Amino acid sequence: MKAMVLIKNTNSLEAFQMREIDDPIIESDEVGIDVETSGLNFADVMARQGHYRDAPPLPSVIGYEVVGKIYQVGADVVDLKVGDRVVAFTRFGGYAKKAKVSFRGAVKIPDAASSAESCALATQFTTAYYCIEEAMRVHKGDKILIQAAAGGVGIGLVQLATHHGLEIWGTAGGEKKCEFIKELGVHHAIDYKKYDFKEYIESRWGARPLDIVIDSLGGVAFKKGYSLLSICGKIIGLGASSMSGSKFNIFRTVKEGLGFGLYHPAQLLMASQSMIGVNMLQVSDHKQNVLERCLKGVVDYYEKGILRPHVGGEFSIEELPKAHDYLGQRKSMGKVVVHWQ
Ligand SMILES: NC(=O)c1ccc[n+]([C@@H]2O[C@H](COP(=O)([O-])OP(=O)(O)OC[C@H]3O[C@@H](n4cnc5c(N)ncnc54)[C@H](OP(=O)(O)O)[C@@H]3O)[C@@H](O)[C@H]2O)c1
Repeated sequence: MKAMVLIKNTNSLEAFQMREIDDPIIESDEVGIDVETSGLNFADVMARQGHYRDAPPLPSVIGYEVVGKIYQVGADVVDLKVGDRVVAFTRFGGYAKKAKVSFRGAVKIPDAASSAESCALATQFTTAYYCIEEAMRVHKGDKILIQAAAGGVGIGLVQLATHHGLEIWGTAGGEKKCEFIKELGVHHAIDYKKYDFKEYIESRWGARPLDIVIDSLGGVAFKKGYSLLSICGKIIGLGASSMSGSKFNIFRTVKEGLGFGLYHPAQLLMASQSMIGVNMLQVSDHKQNVLERCLKGVVDYYEKGILRPHVGGEFSIEELPKAHDYLGQRKSMGKVVVHWQ
């Protein structure tokens, strides 16, 4: 089969090569999928640049999700059959014409569903769903800050926060993105290219006004987000996009790592606060039932119109480098995908 193989941690043009590789071997609890569309995630950009610790060693096929039709099912698979069209959460291996996944990581979608929209349901919306519906309990009127609200995960978080009646602060880079998130439902949009988000919030709403912060930027932004939490506040850390850009550099990584801040559990205890880490790769590896529940929850919300994916860019598989730059250079708003046909 054909696959876009990551051969080098470098710029998008030199990083990938279309190669002929062996078809995946389908285990008894897995399904094989003939891929029509592969989704891109920011973690792919981090993996390409060599910043992603969990990425497989080179040469490798990365990619977290696909949409396509099942061509083979393992002996223990229930509920799915050859010919079903699915969206599936791949554990890498998504940038290929054929992908394999555990049956728990695949959900049926109608033949007419847009493959690009469906890709958004996998990693990005499942992550957003896990944050809001699994990792904590939210209540109407809670004050939430969502970082990078115009991104793939960000859009899902805004829609879920809106569904639960939260008051939403959202950050985004630039005026156009801020207009977009306001239309999406963010009450207080902050252009963090123009303003320091912490100063902006404190100067208007006072010290520690927030109940929830969802941080995907990492480094010093996490520390600032934490400092905005009220008593009983919760902060979710799910990424470190601020560390992307150049090639891996140990000194920069240590500096950014220290930027997160140093915390003692007593601090959290005294203020009745929580810090929650989210890593969907680990959830998918060790808590397949949780992943299955989240993926099904997302599809249910999609069918009810609560979650409405926004497609940020569609490319052909040959244009993968272009798609990577589009996402990595902060041009996208929503899901970026590459089509195989
Ligand atoms: N923990 C998990 O399991 C998990 C799962 C999925 C995603 N994530 C994380 O969630 C975040 C969002 O992922 P996504 O796939 O939905 O991507 P995305 O939000 O669509 O794209 C990333 C966005 O991050 C913002 N950003 C801030 N600083 C940046 C920088 N230095 N370089 C590039 N972009 C920067 C940009 O938006 P602005 O232009 O508005 O700043 C950019 O558009 C990422 O940090 C990702 O690693 C974590």
